[in-house]
Amino acid sequence: MAAQARRKLIAGNWKMNKTIPEGLALVRELKGLVASLPGDRVELAVAPPFVSLQAVAKELEGSAVKLAAQNCHWEASGAYTGEVSAAMLKDVGCAYVIVGHSERRQYFGETDETVNKRTRAVVGAGMTPIICVGETLTEREANRTLEVVERQVAGALKGFQAAEVAGFVLAYEPVWAIGTGRTATSAQAQEVHRAIREQLGRLYDRGTAERVLIQYGGSVKPDNAAELLGQPDVDGALVGGASLKAGDFSAIAKGGV
Ligand code: PGA
Repeated sequence: MAAQARRKLIAGNWKMNKTIPEGLALVRELKGLVASLPGDRVELAVAPPFVSLQAVAKELEGSAVKLAAQNCHWEASGAYTGEVSAAMLKDVGCAYVIVGHSERRQYFGETDETVNKRTRAVVGAGMTPIICVGETLTEREANRTLEVVERQVAGALKGFQAAEVAGFVLAYEPVWAIGTGRTATSAQAQEVHRAIREQLGRLYDRGTAERVLIQYGGSVKPDNAAELLGQPDVDGALVGGASLKAGDFSAIAKGGV
């Protein structure tokens, strides 16, 4: 499949924001704003907090906007207080699950190994993982960006077959660009996206590498989205802050058309 044929995926990660009524108001407004987008070229997803998933799923019925979760546990069920299983997320209507977000890695002890286990659970339940990778500022300044990202990608994908990986979404999110207003330049993003795709080619094969969607994340806004999404290996955006406003999020999605 040629690079141009990949669709763009614009996903909104609400993080720990929005009550149920606030979330419903946001998706109601969003549905109206994105109704005319060409669904074969740009797909949208929103990732509300767990408690809002069911209500948002209902509100999204009949719309092309997909539902995503922000995390899930790797075990199927059992004594894991406070955790949510992949089957529960599938049951509530999630198509995607974000795995290994840098905030989970930084604040909640996420490792490459647990990212791999969560990814296995997501795939096992019939959903698509959005696997986040990205270097810290210290790692970038020490010229370790590609080494760190390659280690995270290899760790997340350990044990997966090419046919599974071809349907995955990866999100390159430089930690220094998340929530800081400091976006990677389109050249910086493209360089890492290209490196990830080459790594996928080495780990699997060229065809698989060309099919995987690689999103960029980190201070994506309406005014920088088109430039980032115009890069040949940038297949979408994982949007935090700007996904909390329907107008901004839909403007970003329009930048992907
Ligand atoms: P941001 O967050 O858009 O607020 O920088 C991105 C993310 O964490 O996915």
